Amino acid sequence: MSTLTTSQKMTLAKDFLPINGTDHIEMYVGNAKQAAHFYKTAFGFQSLAYAGPETGMRDIASYVLQQGKIRLVLTTPLKSASTISEHIYKHGDGVKILALWVEDAYKSFEETVSRGAKVYMAPKTIKDDHGEVRLAGIYTYGETVHMFVERKNYNGVFMPGYREWKSSYNPKDAGLLHVDHCVGNVGWNRMNPTIKWYEDVMGFVNILSFDDKQINTEYSALMSKVMSNGNGFVKFPINEPAEGKKKSQIEEYLDYYEGEGVQHVAIATNDIIATVRDLKSRGVEFLDAPPDAYYDELPTRVGKIDEDMAPLKELGILVDCDEEGYLLQLFTKPVEDRPTLFFEIIQRKGAQSFGAGNFKALFEAIEREQAKRGNL
Ligand code: FE2
Repeated sequence: MSTLTTSQKMTLAKDFLPINGTDHIEMYVGNAKQAAHFYKTAFGFQSLAYAGPETGMRDIASYVLQQGKIRLVLTTPLKSASTISEHIYKHGDGVKILALWVEDAYKSFEETVSRGAKVYMAPKTIKDDHGEVRLAGIYTYGETVHMFVERKNYNGVFMPGYREWKSSYNPKDAGLLHVDHCVGNVGWNRMNPTIKWYEDVMGFVNILSFDDKQINTEYSALMSKVMSNGNGFVKFPINEPAEGKKKSQIEEYLDYYEGEGVQHVAIATNDIIATVRDLKSRGVEFLDAPPDAYYDELPTRVGKIDEDMAPLKELGILVDCDEEGYLLQLFTKPVEDRPTLFFEIIQRKGAQSFGAGNFKALFEAIEREQAKRGNL
């Protein structure tokens, strides 16, 4: 397997579950109105749609934001007696739904449930004047859900139940284009069952693996395997903690999220220097830059790159390469008070992989934050 390129490996995926891409990411949050303001102001998302009592939804308020092809849905419960309230009480704000855009939601549900997926929501069709959306959902790790969304017969703004959200507050976008990958953290010894689940139930293939020998620091370690569907539009790396001298950052996540869940969402840009500079000026907090030695070693480790070294070093942007090219990436600090979900900004220049060489830099940067929290 290791002699195959990433794209050759992806062709080994099974095609019983064709996926066009990520449809949307839905977060359950304590106060969606304020969260929406944060994602507009800090990350440059645009107002798209709204659902709530005014649109006939009695129990929730839900804001849909868009930037490039990314749709972020922020949902809050209006009453304590609700599964959404229970979710937030236990996990804090976090990603509930990784929704996948499919041609046939009912068939996607049948194919996956017949292979052992646990049902979250049986298939249903919702309609309004703009057409119909067909939905079905299955559980993945923890309480996280994959929703299948079929929208080929819908031309409304998001889906039935939502109306267009016209806001007088419209900060400019930050050049964020699409979801590159979404990473899940799973518990001890849960990596292999989760990988097998993606292979058996979703038809995905393991395109890359890192073990704890490759990803470790003086104190802790993790294992990571990347699962991809056949066209590579959807990639889900999975992390498991590994034994080290001190607490793994994955373990810290599991403690604070109180279970398995989405660790980070990686978002693509075509100009990471401009995007990161812009996001920083808007108040987005990124992990500290790696030591100077990281940039001194860069030309030897990665080879020639188009970007000037000075802005990369100034902004703390990480660079890595594989046999197909290179990539630039940077990670935010967690966007909640619990050290759980964070975002990654990524620019790919040929490389289809996940920056094995950067894992160590990322890991050490997270450990510096962990130490500040007294959790290392
Ligand atoms: Fe990532």
